[in-house]
Amino acid sequence: IESLFGKPGCIYIYIYIYTYIHTYIHTYIHFHLFSQVAEVLEVPPMRIYEVATFYTMFLRQPVGKYHIQICTTTPCMLCDSDSILEAIQNKLGIKVGGMTADKMFSLIEVECLGACVNAPMVQINDNYYEDLTPKDIDQIIDELKAGKVPPPGPRNGRFSCEPAGGLTSLCEPPPGPGFGVRADL
Ligand code: FES
Repeated sequence: IESLFGKPGCIYIYIYIYTYIHTYIHTYIHFHLFSQVAEVLEVPPMRIYEVATFYTMFLRQPVGKYHIQICTTTPCMLCDSDSILEAIQNKLGIKVGGMTADKMFSLIEVECLGACVNAPMVQINDNYYEDLTPKDIDQIIDELKAGKVPPPGPRNGRFSCEPAGGLTSLCEPPPGPGFGVRADL
């Protein structure tokens, strides 16, 4: 880490590593500990706070065993992320920013998680659950409660982020080496 000091982005990398370690030991990083990061990097504390408070991946509150991050940015919102959010809140009896009494689930609302083509979606711990309906998220939560890890990815049957209506190009096996090359070459 020391080799990163003074280089662009060192603050992001350092906080990320620091938060990652604390997330797995203490579930979250206490806000005052960011001052220690400032001391180590020898930068004003505000430089650390402004990064740490901007990104939702830097946890500053305790979270549950299963930390649900629901994306409600425009593409997800247009695909009815509201209904997914409502289903989660009803199922768990918590609001955004809350955690269940047994500390199993916490819920936050986040900006785009980069899976817009599979909207609406949520991230639960390290997994993305995509192309969701309220029934899907209900089922996912039930499986988590039962101690299982539901398979991540799209829930509507498509592979990854392929077109929902099936492939429209690249449908055949690719031609072999030499395709389209002059015969005398
Ligand atoms: S808008 Fe939801 S993942 Fe991009």
